[in-house]
Amino acid sequence: MAERVAIVLAAGISSRMNTQMPKVLHEVCGRPMLAYVLDTCRQMDVKKIYVVVGFGVEQVRERFSEASDIIWVQQKEQRGTAHAVLCCKEHLRDFEGETLILCGDGPLIRASTLRTLIEKHEAGQSAVTLATSILDDPTGYGRIIRDAYGNIQGIVEDADCPSEQRAIKEVNPSYYLFNNKVLFEAAERVKPDNVKKEYYLTDALSLIIATGHKVVAVTAVRPEEAVGVNSRAELTEANKIMQHRIQRELMDNGVTIVDPDNTWIDIRAQIGQDTVIEPFTYIHGEVKIGCGCRVGPFAYLRNGTALEDDVVLGVFTEIKNSTLGRGGRARHHSYIGDATVGQNVNIGAGSITANFDGDKVNRTIIGNNCYIGSGAVLISPLELKDDSHISAGTVVSQEDINKFGRGPQKD
Ligand code: UD1
Ligand code: MG
Repeated sequence: MAERVAIVLAAGISSRMNTQMPKVLHEVCGRPMLAYVLDTCRQMDVKKIYVVVGFGVEQVRERFSEASDIIWVQQKEQRGTAHAVLCCKEHLRDFEGETLILCGDGPLIRASTLRTLIEKHEAGQSAVTLATSILDDPTGYGRIIRDAYGNIQGIVEDADCPSEQRAIKEVNPSYYLFNNKVLFEAAERVKPDNVKKEYYLTDALSLIIATGHKVVAVTAVRPEEAVGVNSRAELTEANKIMQHRIQRELMDNGVTIVDPDNTWIDIRAQIGQDTVIEPFTYIHGEVKIGCGCRVGPFAYLRNGTALEDDVVLGVFTEIKNSTLGRGGRARHHSYIGDATVGQNVNIGAGSITANFDGDKVNRTIIGNNCYIGSGAVLISPLELKDDSHISAGTVVSQEDINKFGRGPQKD
C-alpha cells in the first residue's frame, strides 16, 4: 500500500459568504468547518496533513494552535485550487505516494466515503480517483463530463458551463485521491483559461486523462455529504444536515429527542441513556448530561454544563459552566451560572445565581440536599452548606449566611 498524505485547501477569500472571518472558521453545530475535515483526514491513515491557508491565516492558525499534526502552507494570493495545491510543492515534489485532496469548506464528508474512494483507487490502480455525487440541483458545483461509455473526460466549473452541460446532475464534491507525482505534473500545466481567470484543480483532470493516465470517478457521495459551503445559505444547510446526524446518533444511543426540528444540540455535547430532551432546547458548547435526565422544554444549556443522572430542568432554565448533582431539580425560569450544586438540590421557580459583580464572575457552591425557594437571588461568591434552606424571595449573600447560618431545615 502506497504512503498517503492529505492536502486540505482552506485559503479562499470566501467573497460569497460576505464575511470578515476566514470561511473555514465558520461553525457547523459548534465546531469550525475545518475541524470536521481535519478529523476525517486523521481517520484516513495519512502520514501528514498539509493545510493551505491564505485569507485570515493568523486567525486560522490561532484557532488550530493545538493541532500539532498539521503542516501549514501559505498561499499568499488566492489564484485558484490548482495554485493552492502547487503551494505545497516544496514539501511534496518528491513524494512517491498518494495525495488525498479535500476542501476546508466541505465539512460533511464521511470517513466511510473516503474509505470507499481509497479502496476503489487501490483496486483500480488509477492515477486519480475522485468521488462524485448526483444532485437534484447541481447549481454551483463542477459538473462531471463522461463519454458515451461512462468514462470521465473532465470537470466543467459551474461558471464556465455551456447550457447543455448545466443540466448534468453529477457533480464534483472535491474529494480526490491522486498519485502525487501525476498531480504536481498536471497542476503545473493548468492555465487560467476560464471565466474567473483562476487556476482550477479540476482542469488538471482532463490534462491527466489526455496524457493517457487512468482517471476514475466513483459515484460514492450521498447528496447530504456533497454540500460545499460558499454562502450563508449553504452554511445553514450544512448545519441542518450535521444537526440531523448528531441527533440521530444520540437517538441510536438511547436518548429521546421529542421534537428534533425544534431542538439544537452541539456536536460536543454528550448525553446519557434514557434522557429525554423536550422541544425548544438549545445545547451549546461542551455540555455533559447524565442518564435519565429530563431537559426542557425551552432549556438553554451552555458551555461547561454538567448534569449528573436524574436531573430535571424545565422551562426557561439556563445553565452555564455549572455542575448539578444527581437528582437536582430546576424546573422553571432559573439561571445557574458558575455553580457547583450538590445532589438532590431543588432550585425553585425563578431562582438565580447572581454570578457577575460588575467586574468579575464568581462561583456559587451549593451543598447536598439544599432547598432554594422560589425567586431567591444567590449573590456569589457564596457557599451554602449541605441541607441549607433558602426561603422564597430571599436575596442571599455570604455575609448573610455567615450571620444567619443555613436557614430553617426541611426536617
Ligand atoms: C470547488 C470546485 C468545484 C466543486 C466544489 C465543491 C474547483 C475549481 N472547483 O468549487 O468543482 O464542485 O468546490 O464544493 O476546484 N481555495 C484555496 N485557494 C484558492 C481558491 C480556493 O485554498 O486560491 C480553497 C477554498 O478555501 C475552499 C476550496 O479551496 O476551501 C474550494 O474553493 P471554492 O472557491 O470554495 O471553490 P468552489 O467554487 O466551491
Ligand atoms: Mg466551495
